[in-house]
Amino acid sequence: MTTAASPSPAVRAEVPNDLAAFWLPFTPNRAFKKRPRLISRSKDMHYFTPEGREILDASAALWCCNAGHNRAPIVAAIQRQAAELDFTPTFQFAHPLAFQLSARLADLAPADLDHVFFCNSGSEAADTALKIAIAYHNVRGHGSRQRLIGRERGYHGVDFGGISVGGMVNNRKFFGMLLAGVDHLPATYNREHQAFTKGEPEWGGHFADALEGIVGLHDASTIAAVIVEPMAGSTGVLPPPKGYLKRLREICDKYGILLIFDEVITGFGRLGAPFAAERYGVVPDMITFAKGVTSGTVPMGGVIVRKGVYDAFMHGPEHAIELFHGYTYSGHPLACAAALASLDVYRDERLFERAKALEPKWCDAIMTLKGLPNVVDIRCVGLTGAIDLAPIPGSPTLRGYHVLEHSFHEAGVMIRISGDTIELTPPLIISENQIDEIMEKTAASIKAAA
Ligand SMILES: Cc1ncc(COP(=O)(O)O)c(C=O)c1O
Repeated sequence: MTTAASPSPAVRAEVPNDLAAFWLPFTPNRAFKKRPRLISRSKDMHYFTPEGREILDASAALWCCNAGHNRAPIVAAIQRQAAELDFTPTFQFAHPLAFQLSARLADLAPADLDHVFFCNSGSEAADTALKIAIAYHNVRGHGSRQRLIGRERGYHGVDFGGISVGGMVNNRKFFGMLLAGVDHLPATYNREHQAFTKGEPEWGGHFADALEGIVGLHDASTIAAVIVEPMAGSTGVLPPPKGYLKRLREICDKYGILLIFDEVITGFGRLGAPFAAERYGVVPDMITFAKGVTSGTVPMGGVIVRKGVYDAFMHGPEHAIELFHGYTYSGHPLACAAALASLDVYRDERLFERAKALEPKWCDAIMTLKGLPNVVDIRCVGLTGAIDLAPIPGSPTLRGYHVLEHSFHEAGVMIRISGDTIELTPPLIISENQIDEIMEKTAASIKAAA
């Protein structure tokens, strides 16, 4: 693997002495500011604190940096692009890289998913896909199909569409009535039947049949789309039960409902294939992506749609806009350059295949944590795993927070926590020794929080 030169000391951040003004997202601000976890530099599998302490990245920075950090070809591509063309809008104009990248993504996606709409984040991707779904039915003369179906424990970002179809209580309950006309499938997780399963559980495929019940309640003529993460990530790595996604596809086909896979974290090799759709042999009508598309280096998201979905819009006078949607920064040149370079790194280093090859080792390693204090379940799939810890009675999420603090300050590893669940999702360049190191460090933090 190539390495970039270390950044010059001139660009290294100083430790800030005033932490007051920054309102951190999805973070307990008061606790954080008492004992901040600051990062100022990164390289390959590691972060470095401003004091120079090394932190092993076991999270690929929120499932983003699949190629590892500060990879020389990606850094160079961004630098070149910034010097060549800083920005051009893609409303009524465009630049060559946006077309090149769209073609590369279409090649990577399965079947006839061959048109790409760009945005800047996973949240925007989810909302874009939902809007395309409703508009698709509209332009085909089926304007009554407006209902959107998500899933309990689903995460589709934080915009209004995404939280409406999402199924994470805290992300919903503070924000009013959300979108009307949304229903939810049940979550696919059941500890009693699935605990400590490696990969996709045998039990639970029947949860897809709940879609029949939803259709029975609302009628197919009112339903635009179903959106699911092929593997629910943010609520703690819930691989789909065997047969579940195929069954969802069948029911959607039966009733003319669009199926959207939110692949914001499962895309770009996380499950050992370009997209989870390929791993599971199921072709959705749209795939949302973000994060790994630029290996986290520049914000970018998007939706890949099937030919039939795109074609449905290509009617009417040719000078007229077909879809009234877009973001100023859709297909930003820096993001396109970063994405093209990232895709090259993925291809040249065969990182998706690498993730697939490492999965058995990864799953064996994470399962060694079974038996540690308070560990009540472990799941894994691809290069992704989660460990559920029993909450401290009366203080849910506190044990998770203790683990997080210990892992960063003492063990020297960056993990992600979701409540009392630890999520481990390293860059795909990880070595076998580093897999063991992650498990050792995580084990130390779990013990410390017992
Ligand atoms: C499946 C899924 N969809 C959407 C999002 C939102 O992405 P972003 O934070 O870039 O808006 C995420 C973020 O983790 C995600 O996991």
